[in-house]
Amino acid sequence: MTSNLIINGSEKFNVEIIVPGDKSITHRALMIGALSNGICKISNYLQSDDCINTISILKNLGVSIDIHEDNSLTINAKGLKSLKKPKKDLEAGNSGTLIRLLSGILSMQDFTSIITGDTSLQSRPMARIIEPLTKMGAVIQSRENKPPLEFSKPVERSCCNEEILIASAQVKSCLILASLFVEGESNIIEKIKTRDHTERLLQYFNYDIKIDDNRIKLYGNKDIFAKDIEVPNDFSSASFFIVAALLKKGSQVLIKNVCVNEYRIGLINILKKMGGQIEFKNLRTNCNENIADISVSYSKLKAINISGEIISSLIDELPILFIACACASGKSVISDIEELRYKESDRILSMEKGLRELGIDVLSTESSISIIGGQINGGIVDSFDDHRVAMSFAISGIISSKPITILKTKNIATSFPNFVDTLRKINVEVYEI
Ligand code: S3P
Repeated sequence: MTSNLIINGSEKFNVEIIVPGDKSITHRALMIGALSNGICKISNYLQSDDCINTISILKNLGVSIDIHEDNSLTINAKGLKSLKKPKKDLEAGNSGTLIRLLSGILSMQDFTSIITGDTSLQSRPMARIIEPLTKMGAVIQSRENKPPLEFSKPVERSCCNEEILIASAQVKSCLILASLFVEGESNIIEKIKTRDHTERLLQYFNYDIKIDDNRIKLYGNKDIFAKDIEVPNDFSSASFFIVAALLKKGSQVLIKNVCVNEYRIGLINILKKMGGQIEFKNLRTNCNENIADISVSYSKLKAINISGEIISSLIDELPILFIACACASGKSVISDIEELRYKESDRILSMEKGLRELGIDVLSTESSISIIGGQINGGIVDSFDDHRVAMSFAISGIISSKPITILKTKNIATSFPNFVDTLRKINVEVYEI
């Protein structure tokens, strides 16, 4: 992926597209697959920088993984107790999901390990996992609750009994994965329900895990029996093209085989309320996840106010929703989004700066943003090395009156390596410089 993108408008489109495999599910399939017993084949996994880092780390922990040419891989897994002390520090790159989920596993091992990441990851908060893991007996050293994180042998391994107050699937999954290594019953309660891919995958593997409303109950120290997994396509990647079709007059798109997990699709409910014509077709279930083809047609959008629990179900889609709001008629106010300040960049700040640069009237507080819909003019926008910010501004370029240059776009490869090719499929004039 190149350093900068220039978007010089687009033609209307009517196409079928396929976006890459789901990032959240790929990380989980790799980690849970590595802890299972037997041969675990994962097909349609996401070959992005974040997931490639997960594969390298697992290999450094002694897991045998064979990569095949057809976008599948095979893990020859040797069970819960099979991980080995790594010979070097583990590199999580840009990925919060990787570092937080894997910390659950590393913190319960008998060996010492260190995990770190790039400058952005080294500035992200880890107290949210360090505190509950420490209650389970983990011994973790950090630099003021930020990476690098160093794990030593736990003093003991106690069951997890935690109520998670922030809406975070990463924290929840970290604690579920840690609980796998502890004999007895762990209980994890979520105040706000978040994406449940970890729970679904363990259930798919016939693991003893029960979900009762907001409570997750599981028994640790049990075998996980390997099964083949087919990863569905990523809703978060699809979201850019859903909004593209809504914004570009006369356009239509069909996005195939997308994971429509109920805790991921808040964006659809909101866009429909804004007037968006969106339909799920061919709804089905595979490997315990719901999948659909998403059909979208150009629509005139109107402003919206959002706050509260729905935010966690569109947390990664907020940057592209801000673009939709910038093109809708009226003033949108989106509140309760403070978590956006702790993502790959401070996404409230990155989006506010970029939108203002493009001529949109925006105002933010610590935990909200208000956007007045208007005309997107051209300009130069900094993505702050944030993949979702970069891709959101690329989509704004399809309806801009003048070209838009987006700076620092390399990290698009962390989640959507063929993003530029997919832009070209929807008739966008794009230059990589
Ligand atoms: C993810 C959870 C979310 C999301 C991230 C992926 C996951 O993070 O923003 O991109 O796969 O569990 P939080 O748990 O910090 O909300």
